Amino acid sequence: MQNKSLLIRNINKLIGIIDEPSPLKKGRALSLINTIENAFLLIDKGKIHSFGKMKDCPENADKIINADGAIVLPAWIDSHTHIVFPATRELEFIDKIKGLSYEEIAKRGGGILNTAKKMTLADEDYLFDSAMKRIDEIIRLGTGGVEIKSGYGLSFDNEIKMLRVIKRIKEAAPIPVKANFLGAHALPPEYKDSREDYIKLIIDKMLPYIADNELADYIDVFCDKGFFTVEETDTILQAGAKYNLKPKIHANELDTSGGIQVGVKNNAVSVDHLEFTGDKEIESLKNSATVPTLLPSTAFFLRLKYAPARKMIDSGLGVALASDYNPGSSPSGNMQFVISLASIYMKMLPEEAINAATINGAYALELQNTLGSISTGKIANIIITKPLDNIALIPYFFGSNIVDKMIISGKEY
Ligand code: NIG
Ligand code: FE
Repeated sequence: MQNKSLLIRNINKLIGIIDEPSPLKKGRALSLINTIENAFLLIDKGKIHSFGKMKDCPENADKIINADGAIVLPAWIDSHTHIVFPATRELEFIDKIKGLSYEEIAKRGGGILNTAKKMTLADEDYLFDSAMKRIDEIIRLGTGGVEIKSGYGLSFDNEIKMLRVIKRIKEAAPIPVKANFLGAHALPPEYKDSREDYIKLIIDKMLPYIADNELADYIDVFCDKGFFTVEETDTILQAGAKYNLKPKIHANELDTSGGIQVGVKNNAVSVDHLEFTGDKEIESLKNSATVPTLLPSTAFFLRLKYAPARKMIDSGLGVALASDYNPGSSPSGNMQFVISLASIYMKMLPEEAINAATINGAYALELQNTLGSISTGKIANIIITKPLDNIALIPYFFGSNIVDKMIISGKEY
C-alpha cells in the first residue's frame, strides 16, 4: 500500500502550505497560514506529490478519498511528551482537588518520584505495549510526529530501560519519534545529601552508555525551583554536548529560574513550559535559535498561570505548542485541546495556534524538512477533518474530535 498513490479530492480548505523551506514562524508571520480553497492533494509513495485547485486535479490514483467539506492540514507535531510511564497518578489528582500544590505533592515523595518508584518494578514489554497504545491514541487525535522523554528511571538501569523502550517505539511506531534523555528530572531520595553524586552518575555513567548505544537524540534537565539549579543544568548540558546531544529542556515552569537563559546559552533546540517568562527571558530568546515551547494543558491541569504567549509573539518570538503528555501534570496527549487552550487562555489566534502545533513543532524536533507542512516531498502525515467551514472552528470545538481520517505516510490510518 505504501507505494501506491492516494488522491484527496474536493478539499474545502487545504491549509498549512509552505512552498519554499522557510524559517521558524515568528511574530506576525505566525498568524499567516497559506490556504487553497476547493483543492486536491496527491500523495505518492508516502510523500506529498502535488496539490492545487480542483480544476487542475489529476484524474487517476490508486485510491481516491472525497474530502467534501473538510479542512486538510498537516498532522500535529507533539514535541514534548513523557508517554512511557508505568502507572497513572489519580490519587495525586484527588490530593490536588483537596488543595495540595504540585510542589507540595513532590515534597511528600509523590510526583515524579512516585512514578520512578513504580518504574523500578515495571516490565519492559508492559511499558512498550502501554506506550504504543498511547501512540495509537494520539495519532487518532491528529498527531503525526512525537518526542518521548525518559526521566522516570532516575537510576542507571531504569533510565536505560526507559530509553530502550523508546528505541523500540521508534522502530515500531508509524510516525517519527525522537528520544530525549531526562536523567535530571528529579533528585532520587537516596542522593538527598549528595546531589553532586547523582549528577556524576548522569555524566560519567549514563551519558557514555547512552551515546555508545545511540539511545537518545536530545538531553533534557528539569531546571526549576526544587529540582535542578541553573549551574547544575549548565554542567549537565555541557556534558551532553560532548556526545552531540543537543538540549531540549524544562524551564521556568515553577519560577523565574534562569532556565531559559541557560538553555539559550547551551544552544538548546527548545526550552519548554515557560509559564514564568519576563522581559529578560524574552530578550534572551529573541537573540537565539531556541524554540520557546508552550504546554498549556499542564498549566490547565495544575492550575498554574499560563505562559505569556501573546506578549512573546508580539515581541517577535515564534512559539511551538506541545502536550507534555505524562501521568502527573498533563494526562492527555490531545493536541486539539492544547490548541483550544492556547486560543482561549493564551489568546493565540487559530492560525497562530495551528502553526505553533505543526511547522513550529516540527522545528522544535528538527523535523522541519520532513514534516509540519503541506509541501512537496514531505512525509504525508495529514489530518482530514470532519466537514468544517473555517479554521477557527478547530480550536472552537474544544473537546470534540474534529479528525475524520488520519493519513500516515500516505496510508489511511
Ligand atoms: O513536564 N515538569 C516536569 N516534568 C513533567 C511532569 C512529570 C510528572 O509530574 O510526572 C512536566 O510537567
Ligand atoms: Fe514535561
